[in-house]
Amino acid sequence: MVSNNKIKRIGILTGGGDCPGLNAVIRAVVKNAIFHYQLEVIGFLEGYLGLIKNMTRRLEATDASGILHQGGTILGTSNRDNPFRFPVTMRGKKNLRDVSDQAIRNLRRNKVDALIAVGGDGSLTIAYQLYKKGIPIVGIPKTIDNDLWGTDVTFGFNTALQTAMEAIDKIQTTAASHHRVMVVEVMGRYAGWIALEAGIAGGGDVILIPEIPYDIERVCEVVRERYRYGKRSSIVVVAEGAKPQKGEVVVQKMVEDSTDPVRLGGVGYKVGNEIEKRTGLETRVTVLGHIQRGGSPIAYDRILATRYGAEAVELVMRGKFGRMICLRGMKIDSISLNRIQGDQRKVFPNGDLVKTGRCIGVSFGE
Ligand code: F6P
Repeated sequence: MVSNNKIKRIGILTGGGDCPGLNAVIRAVVKNAIFHYQLEVIGFLEGYLGLIKNMTRRLEATDASGILHQGGTILGTSNRDNPFRFPVTMRGKKNLRDVSDQAIRNLRRNKVDALIAVGGDGSLTIAYQLYKKGIPIVGIPKTIDNDLWGTDVTFGFNTALQTAMEAIDKIQTTAASHHRVMVVEVMGRYAGWIALEAGIAGGGDVILIPEIPYDIERVCEVVRERYRYGKRSSIVVVAEGAKPQKGEVVVQKMVEDSTDPVRLGGVGYKVGNEIEKRTGLETRVTVLGHIQRGGSPIAYDRILATRYGAEAVELVMRGKFGRMICLRGMKIDSISLNRIQGDQRKVFPNGDLVKTGRCIGVSFGE
């Protein structure tokens, strides 16, 4: 424990898409702040929108009680509201304006001495921009995609992985009963971590990830070959960001004003339709979607989120700002927010787990 007399009150917000473990982080921040440092804690609601619009909630120790196992976030979140590009309507016309000074005024109005921002790359980029404007900030990495540069693991990922694996387990039994090809589309944006790990853990036969562009004919060959050997069902796990060797990702829609306007989705149907057309085998598609973001965090994520939250308060008390908490191996550490800008943590196409998959006969559609 350290003492820092200048810090009396801290703020916390959860930004970006929700994920399991957010409440565990809030709980750890509130408990460490109040029990060890007698700080006051102010929660900003709905991500950065709360900072812009001054929507707050005082967090007492009792608010942090009983929420460890709960999915979602008691503070609410948003993956749209960016104080540096906030939509403002004037004379019927919508413009994106920099309202960061307004957000900073709200921090001062609430007498917040330091802010803890829990988020993915979009939210942590905003955190870094606020830090450059003089706000004492510490970031905590969250996302089911596990695509944040600078940390070995984000919390939320392992729960999403467990959910995806359990879904594949269930799909295996119906696939085998009907002798069908089953395509399972999982989330992950431009990184294939969920598809790769859930595919290996769930016994997928083909795994398509963004980092290894696929050849649909190769995928079909694998399915046909399995059929020839008497394996009349196949499981194809597809990351939403997977793309063919000569083609692009499938965009489901664009969400204007979002920190990342592209919403991926639909590649599962594209792959499934092609397999059925080319092989003549009955094929069904399941898109797991937001079920991967919901539910109670598994033990790993509860522990990781608790370690991240507790350490964020330690960093605040040491006056180490402009940093993101991270995990390196088994150890909790921190890294400059500057160093994580613009990079994404992707699967290495020749990394250990891909090699393991190849060793046991998994096809990556190459
Ligand atoms: O980043 C988390 C994530 O769930 C991605 O895997 C997915 O592409 C995206 O968010 C979906 O966003 P939304 O909730 O806006 O549909």
